[in-house]
Amino acid sequence: MQSAVSIKDLKIAYGDHPVIEKMSIDIAPREFLVLLGPSGCGKSTLLNAIAGLQDITAGEIWISGKNVSWEEPKDRGIGMVFQSYALYPRMSIRKNLSFGLRVAGLPKTEIEARVARTAALLHLDKLLDRRPAELSGGQRQRVAIGRALVREVDVFLFDEPLSNLDAKLRNELRVEIKKLHQNLGNTMIYVTHDQVEALTLADRIAIMRDGVIQQLASPAEIYHRPANLFVAGFIGAPAMNFIEGRIERGDGRPVFVSKGLAVDLSGYCFQVATSDGPATLGFRPDHLVLDGAASGLPTIAGRISVVEPMGSEAVLWFDWAGQSLSLRLMGDVSLKPGDALAPGLDIRKASLFDADGSRL
Ligand SMILES: Nc1ncnc2c1ncn2[C@@H]1O[C@H](COP(=O)(O)OP(=O)(O)O)[C@@H](O)[C@H]1O
Ligand SMILES: [Mg+2]
Repeated sequence: MQSAVSIKDLKIAYGDHPVIEKMSIDIAPREFLVLLGPSGCGKSTLLNAIAGLQDITAGEIWISGKNVSWEEPKDRGIGMVFQSYALYPRMSIRKNLSFGLRVAGLPKTEIEARVARTAALLHLDKLLDRRPAELSGGQRQRVAIGRALVREVDVFLFDEPLSNLDAKLRNELRVEIKKLHQNLGNTMIYVTHDQVEALTLADRIAIMRDGVIQQLASPAEIYHRPANLFVAGFIGAPAMNFIEGRIERGDGRPVFVSKGLAVDLSGYCFQVATSDGPATLGFRPDHLVLDGAASGLPTIAGRISVVEPMGSEAVLWFDWAGQSLSLRLMGDVSLKPGDALAPGLDIRKASLFDADGSRL
């Protein structure tokens, strides 16, 4: 099948400062791809290059089977939504939505039809005669999304569209964007530094660091089987717990050892093929079982330092061998700081990394 968007050996540099190096991604038609990474890793640079707002240094960008590397933005068949919605303050919402189409010289009836369709989709029908100043932040961002949608193209690009909104609106609009994608079935490339947006919206996530993709996979794969320490630490809240130690193979069965802890690795999801050597054991707060003795799992004993209730669940922080580890519990907790606990570790769900930080 032909890719909706194809990035081939892309390189982008500002002067002699490289931002994107030798990047290749194929994005399938109807796919929702999220580019996720810390601030400054090159997400906007990449998205702007796809949109044609940023010159590339080497490589090619293809959209719908056409090499558009040097095409004008307006000829690429994309719609783009930016973080700052930058609406025209003196124009009505109707005029804001139709502006691009009027510039492009579309017939009046076609413009009216598209504005009506888009307004209905984004629940803006009753707001069309207002000015941007008369809308809430969430409504304004919807208009910004609408300005991209009226183009009725196959590929939409979003650059952190929800970052300027407060938490409640961000959650609401996130769900709307997901519905929009389900209804329209367009290809979407969505940039964010917010792991919750990435995990909830994406078909696939590309996690970037310093202009290089660290892992490109489904949210579940990235959450459960992070490819390296960077991905493991970036995804998940609270972050994954890490214990440094060694893999040792006494009588043939690999064991992870660290500061009095010895964890049999025979239940680990992959065959641990490496020989003895330094390794990092990673496990999420929800991979610990509170009553380790009853679970029959290897236990990590410590003393609680902080309890964070979060409504339906709670996070317990406890000290083990001079470091702080976290455990997630469902329901209410009666435990308090100072209490001893010995949770069990479910090694089948854990991750192991070698000395270079790559997943074993
Ligand atoms: N116009 C520019 N000139 C020089 N360097 C830039 C320019 N724009 C961005 N950069 C640099 O490129 C890197 C990537 O920036 P950007 O793509 O905006 O990151 P992100 O969107 O992931 O936060 C950063 O180090 C940033 O400082
Ligand atoms: Mg950016």
